[in-house]
Amino acid sequence: MANQLRHIAIIMDGNGRWARNRGLERFLGHRKGTQATIDAVEVGVNLKLEHMTLYVFSSENWGRPSKEVDYLMGLLIEMVIKEIPDLMEKNVKLIVIGDMNRIPEKPRAKLQEAIDVTANNTGMQLNLAISYGARQEIVHAVKAIAADVAAGKIKVDDIDENVFARNLYLKGAPDPDLIIRTGGEFRLSNYLLWQAAYSEFYVTDTLWPDFTKEEFMKAVEFYKTRQRRFGKVLDE
Ligand code: IPE
Ligand code: IPE
Ligand code: MG
Repeated sequence: MANQLRHIAIIMDGNGRWARNRGLERFLGHRKGTQATIDAVEVGVNLKLEHMTLYVFSSENWGRPSKEVDYLMGLLIEMVIKEIPDLMEKNVKLIVIGDMNRIPEKPRAKLQEAIDVTANNTGMQLNLAISYGARQEIVHAVKAIAADVAAGKIKVDDIDENVFARNLYLKGAPDPDLIIRTGGEFRLSNYLLWQAAYSEFYVTDTLWPDFTKEEFMKAVEFYKTRQRRFGKVLDE
């Protein structure tokens, strides 16, 4: 039977190198990358995914020069405003995972607006990982569970993998079947550490701004050829 494909997560890396290769400033790579993001969402919708999770900005990315951070936040506002009609047309529900409190007020308000406007859409859920770190997410979940125990809502013995997953940002959504990383690095960079337990990995040297719909479909074809065993022995 063909592998199910319910959830794809993407590490959209390589914008800076794309720009540097052309003698341009990094920010132009980020701008160029927005088209690849729009195309990726379209592919996800056509694949009828339940979830697509995009790594937009990590907890660690706050440590970049403020000029770059400011530019990225500005780009985020611009994108969100521009894309709302298209998200509505595609019936996409937008969610942000990460520490929204660290996001400056203006982009945060725009993101909240997009979350509210698309809240009743029933198609693909687009999870934007912004100010996201998997370790922070895990700590956040531990605190929430500890608070529930302290309040007498659950017992220590009730804590299991399902309880834990429900306290993560995606509240127990299916784990990503496929994680795609552009830009050639074989690492997770603090992305979905819990959820990636049995995800298939696809790494391509293609830099994010060059990641076309055709490139995306190569990753999907690769995924289809994987034999997912989940630790078991499959019949020959
Ligand atoms: C990914 O591209 C975008 C973000 C992390 C915000 P980079 O900016 O990391 O590009 P490279 O990896 O330096 O080429
Ligand atoms: C991962 O890329 C984060 C995003 C794509 C948003 P980075 O460029 O921050 O990761 P490292 O520094 O190469 O591990
Ligand atoms: Mg990078």
